[in-house]
Amino acid sequence: MNLKELVGIEAAKYVTDGMTVGLGTGSTAYYLVKELGRRVNEEGLKITGVVTSSKTEAQAKELGIPLKAIDDVESVDLTIDGADEISEDFQGIKGGGAALLFEKVVATYSKDCIWIVDESKMVANLGKFPLPVEVVPFGSHNIFRLFEERNYNPTWRTDESGELLMTDGGHYIIDLHLEKITDPRALAKELDECVGVVEHGLFIDMISRVIVGTPEGPQTLI
Ligand code: 5RP
Repeated sequence: MNLKELVGIEAAKYVTDGMTVGLGTGSTAYYLVKELGRRVNEEGLKITGVVTSSKTEAQAKELGIPLKAIDDVESVDLTIDGADEISEDFQGIKGGGAALLFEKVVATYSKDCIWIVDESKMVANLGKFPLPVEVVPFGSHNIFRLFEERNYNPTWRTDESGELLMTDGGHYIIDLHLEKITDPRALAKELDECVGVVEHGLFIDMISRVIVGTPEGPQTLI
């Protein structure tokens, strides 16, 4: 069993009957959704899923997990999602799978959030992984230039055909190659204040638990 599958299955144990569950996006969250689908079908687990991307929606529907839109639930009991980097103080970068906006919306309305990662995602400082920033297409080249002026080393996220990638929300993604983010809170605030930026991949103070996959087994932190 690979480490992503290990943590996906481990995290699914926190899901119990009657819960509304935020379903994350990515290759780790894939295993969580797969396991929840198995429990729904084989054990009669009764849950309502709230998806964070069209990709996860397709997987959950195929598995027969009952779904509701985020706007049709008052709150989400627990969201389980992957992450691209997690620092020692449990702040994170997400959005490698281009779903950061919907992931942050669902996480914001969740009572609890668990991140599931393999051990390679645990880092001393955030920033080696390019920080995704989701922007509205209108004026986005100006935002790109602004990021160049600030020496944030921006690149456009493209799809398989080399076109600018369009997110589920109808936006573009600019990845910032920062190498080291010394003050994630300050950068998050700065990006929040940028007109045309819809959301960014810095997730600050958003999680209640991290499950890390190691060769010795899953380790639960905080
Ligand atoms: C998608 C995400 C993913 O959770 C993140 O990129 C981790 O993905 P993976 O589990 O495939 O490594 O934020 O937007």
